[in-house]
Amino acid sequence: MSSPLVSIIGAGKVGSTLAQRIIEKNLADVVLLDVIGGLPQGIALDLSQAQGLERHDRAIAGTNDYTDTANSDLVVITAGIPRKPGMSRDDLIATNAKIVVEAAQKAIAYSPNAVFIVVTNPLDVMTYLVWQALKIPAERVMGMAGVLDSARLQTFIAMEMKVAIADVSAMVLGGHGDLMVPLPKYCTVRGIPIAELLDGSTIERLVERTRHGGAELVKLFKTGGAYYAPASSVCQMVEAILHDLSRLLPAAAYVQGEYGLDDLFIGVPCRLGSKGIESVLELPISDSERKALHISAADVRENVEKALKMVEIN
Ligand code: LAC
Repeated sequence: MSSPLVSIIGAGKVGSTLAQRIIEKNLADVVLLDVIGGLPQGIALDLSQAQGLERHDRAIAGTNDYTDTANSDLVVITAGIPRKPGMSRDDLIATNAKIVVEAAQKAIAYSPNAVFIVVTNPLDVMTYLVWQALKIPAERVMGMAGVLDSARLQTFIAMEMKVAIADVSAMVLGGHGDLMVPLPKYCTVRGIPIAELLDGSTIERLVERTRHGGAELVKLFKTGGAYYAPASSVCQMVEAILHDLSRLLPAAAYVQGEYGLDDLFIGVPCRLGSKGIESVLELPISDSERKALHISAADVRENVEKALKMVEIN
C-alpha cells in the first residue's frame, strides 16, 4: 500500500520538527523543501539515519525543487521569517506575504488536489493570501493556530490545577494574536467547566498568559519562535485529515456568515477530515465574546487589506 505524501515548505525549526513528528508517527512520507541549498537535504539525511533506531516505515526526502513535491496529499507552508523579541506577528507581513504566495503557487502546480495548511505568521492573514493564490475551494485551505493556542491554555490549566493534562480540554477562537478569544466556558477538566474549579482572577491570568504564549517563548529564545508545540499542533491536523477523522479542532477557516463574520480566515471550531474543513461549528458565545471575536476579525481584515497591497497575486 502506498503511503500518503505530505510536503512541508520551509525547513526551519517548525518545518523540520513537523517532518520528524510525521514520519516517526508513521503518518506519511514527507518531502521537506527549502530555498536554502543543502539544508532540507541534510535534515532529511539525518532523519533517515534515525529511522532504524526509531523504527518507523516512512521515507523523507529533502529538496530545493518543487517537482519533488508532486502529488502531495497535503502541503504545509511554514516558510517565512519568524519574529524577533519585541516584534508582533503583524510586523512580518511584507516579507512573508511574498514568500507564502510564491510557495503556494509553485506547490499547487504539482499537487492540484492537495489540502493546504498554513503556519507562517501573521497566520490568519497569510492563510487568506494563500487561498487567493491557490484559487481552490476554501475548504481545502486552513491555518494552524487554534490547536496551538488551545494547547497552551490546556497546559496552563493543567499546571495550575495539578491535574493530568489528558483530563483538560480548552478552546480558543479568533485571530492568532494578542486579540485571540479564549473561551473559558468551553474549557473543562473531565467535563467540569473551569469556572467551577478556579476563581475568576486565576482564569483571567491563564487566559492572558495564553494570549501572549507565543511572545513569552520569543522572549526566551531571542532568535525565533516556538516550534515543538506548533509542530505537534500541525501534526494533529495532518492526522485528522489523512485519517479522515472528522475531529473537532479550532483552525483558521474561511467564514461565510458564521459568528457574523464574512470573507475572512479566522480561528473557529471546525470538523477536519479528508476533504479539509468539513464544516464550521457555530457555538453559542456571549455578547462580550462575540464583541472580542469581531475586534480580532477587524484587526485581521485590516492586515489582509494591507497585505493585498504588498503582494501581486496573479
Ligand atoms: C507561536 C507562533 C507559532 O504562537 O505564532 O508560537
